[in-house]
Amino acid sequence: MKKLVEQLTLELETAFEKAGYDKKYAVVTLSNRPDLCEYQCNGAMAAAKAYHKAPILIANEVVEALSESACFQKAEAVAPGFINMTLDAGFVSSYLKAMSSEEKLGVNAPEKQKTIIIDYGGANVAKPLHVGHLRSAVIGESVKRIARYVGHRVIGDVHLGDWGYQMGLVITELKKRKPNLSYFDDSFTGEYPKEPPFTIAELEEIYPTASAYAKEHGDYKEEALHATYLLQNGHRGYTAIWQHIMNVSVTDLKKNYGALNVEFDLWKGEADAQPYIPSMVEYLKKEGYAHLDQGALVVDVKEETDTKEIPPCMILKSDGAALYDTTDLATLIEREKLYQPDEVIYITDKRQELHFIQVFRCAKKTGIVRKETELTFIGFGTMNGKDGKPFKTRDGGVMRLEYLIADINEEMYKKIAQNRTVAESEAKETARKVALSALKYGDLSNQAAKDYVFDVDRFTSFEGNTGPYILYTIVRIKSILGRYAETGKNVQTCEFKEADSASAKALMLEAAKFNQVIENAYDELAPHKICAYIYDLSNAFNRFYHETKILAEENEEKQAGYIALLDITKRILETCIDMLGFEAPERM
Ligand code: ARG
Repeated sequence: MKKLVEQLTLELETAFEKAGYDKKYAVVTLSNRPDLCEYQCNGAMAAAKAYHKAPILIANEVVEALSESACFQKAEAVAPGFINMTLDAGFVSSYLKAMSSEEKLGVNAPEKQKTIIIDYGGANVAKPLHVGHLRSAVIGESVKRIARYVGHRVIGDVHLGDWGYQMGLVITELKKRKPNLSYFDDSFTGEYPKEPPFTIAELEEIYPTASAYAKEHGDYKEEALHATYLLQNGHRGYTAIWQHIMNVSVTDLKKNYGALNVEFDLWKGEADAQPYIPSMVEYLKKEGYAHLDQGALVVDVKEETDTKEIPPCMILKSDGAALYDTTDLATLIEREKLYQPDEVIYITDKRQELHFIQVFRCAKKTGIVRKETELTFIGFGTMNGKDGKPFKTRDGGVMRLEYLIADINEEMYKKIAQNRTVAESEAKETARKVALSALKYGDLSNQAAKDYVFDVDRFTSFEGNTGPYILYTIVRIKSILGRYAETGKNVQTCEFKEADSASAKALMLEAAKFNQVIENAYDELAPHKICAYIYDLSNAFNRFYHETKILAEENEEKQAGYIALLDITKRILETCIDMLGFEAPERM
């Protein structure tokens, strides 16, 4: 189905041509003066230059030619040559009717369905998941759902950091504490134990201890680096420990991501790239792409047009160890082999931008990906505390995600429990859903690249531009629809009616923008556009609600018209929050 502006543009094209002008001037946009009109066309101004004629004369002729169009209640030419349009109420209600009959509410299937891999989450195994990973998970999950709604084949990959120095540290520390474990006995050829030699709590303690110790002790650090090297080169005992670390951590990570409504299709990681590394290195050397630089193997990626220095991509360290660049390149080889993606989208802190510039250039230059494969980087800003500095716990440490979620849940529960009329368990579940909306909307309503202030008080408020406000609006609509149905009437058979008030018209016009907003949010990979839209839509709904008797309306047809409008508003809001990665409770 055509977007509303497209339909209006078609009408204007006909009018421009009828009046003797090229239809290319007939572009319609939303009005930037909503006090004057709903949509506008500024094409007469541009046409004036081409036709050497006063713009107002052209605008007048076009408006004249529009007189037969059924789309407008009013179209007028305004000095110096604007065409201001107010839509016909019947046209708008029939547009909504058409929308509501479509499963995707007017969003068309893409011309070409793409296979898109979204690389997000990016937790580092053996290190606790902290708020730094929150944004990647929240933004990535939303981008994934938007792309999927639009109709693409989308694969979400957590791409764990599971192949680096932290693994060497854990192994080294474990060896120090329990030197008699069979993993450290090189002559051991039997089967290693099935039970992990640590619990998740121990594992979480081991890493920071080892990391701090290595900073103070050079020989310990050397040992950890060597352990990393041995692991990457297939050391049997270390591989077995690595597998234990993975099992224990991934179970914990799944729980954490689950609490955030974040679901990955693939639980792959840097380690999965390992089998592709030796042949990749061979290829890069043989084709002359890679050369030695102070013992390290590198590929130059600078370009003449660069305004700042882009250092070479590092393929192997002088000791032969793989690096972050290496695993990302080899992962692209694996992805190409297994999924042939049309696009790969990476979502990390924007401080990793240079890394991705290097990797993308290297992958293209060396043919690791096809020329037409799109490689996209979304870099996000920092989540700050109210003091404007990176978010910390009250005692100053980096806040762990689990605690952050627990804190916000508790805050929400306190609010909800104040006027609780439902059972404890329902209140808890409701608090969880509302808290998640607070957390995610608080993040997603900002442009990703910007830093933002994590403000629990503001995010959990039921008023203003917040997740809870959106949920509150949905719950309010659900409640009205529920009571309507209780009177024995059927919501599904309600017919749209022409708007009979300014607030009804405004709500209808807002609802009619849905397909355009979604298309735009997808094109720009910008969940914040959806947030801005549902905030406007919720405001339009609440204004309408306060001015309109709905359940008390005696004229049944009129009432049915309101109900149809409420129902589509609810569908839009629920569809949008699903794309943002949260859901509404039944009541709150
Ligand atoms: N593990 C990385 C980190 O914590 C993020 C991984 C992002 N994805 C990637 N393909 N490099 O910073």
